Amino acid sequence: MIVDVLIIITAYLLGSIPSGLLVGKIGFGIDIRQHGSGNLGGTNTFRTLGVKAGLIVTIADILKGTLATALPLLFSSSIHPLLIGVIAVIGHMYPIFAGFKGGKAVATSGGVLLCYNPILFLTAVISFFISLFFSKMVSLSSMITALICVIYSIIYSFIVEVDIPLIMIVSVLAIFVFYRHRANISRIKNKTEPKIKWL
Ligand code: G3P
Repeated sequence: MIVDVLIIITAYLLGSIPSGLLVGKIGFGIDIRQHGSGNLGGTNTFRTLGVKAGLIVTIADILKGTLATALPLLFSSSIHPLLIGVIAVIGHMYPIFAGFKGGKAVATSGGVLLCYNPILFLTAVISFFISLFFSKMVSLSSMITALICVIYSIIYSFIVEVDIPLIMIVSVLAIFVFYRHRANISRIKNKTEPKIKWL
């Protein structure tokens, strides 16, 4: 019981580590929340601080989800790993270390999938880059990828093995992704969402 509580707290604190804020402040002396889209995630770090910083933040945000999801397995807890993954994503969106203003749930959700179902993670990465190639919008590609993950988890349950927690949690993560992209959705509708130029 005490182990379960510690795992839940650790997952939230892990998710709360504001990698974008840390890389911006330590490496460049700026708060990336005051630049670009104002988001703490990898995309805004790419946009504001360049490829190297963007990659570091994206990988760190993915690893937060992966590590948190692995906690119940590492410490023999009976809590479902995906549930702990969701707690890390909540930490990432509402970080205690950054005034509860965090990221948009994409990379950390990816990290959850990487730990629980690597093939789904790979499918998500491929879907993301195909969407990005055609739309040139990271936000739209993130939302399309979230939907594809829900569809994948349903198909997986039909073809490979029934996994209701996977369908439920991937759906919850997709709702988080859409909810956190409300401003992006308005900009996409107004045709003012920034597009990447390098793909
Ligand atoms: O992962 C976040 C991405 O989908 C959008 O980020 O900074 O363009 O709002 P941003």
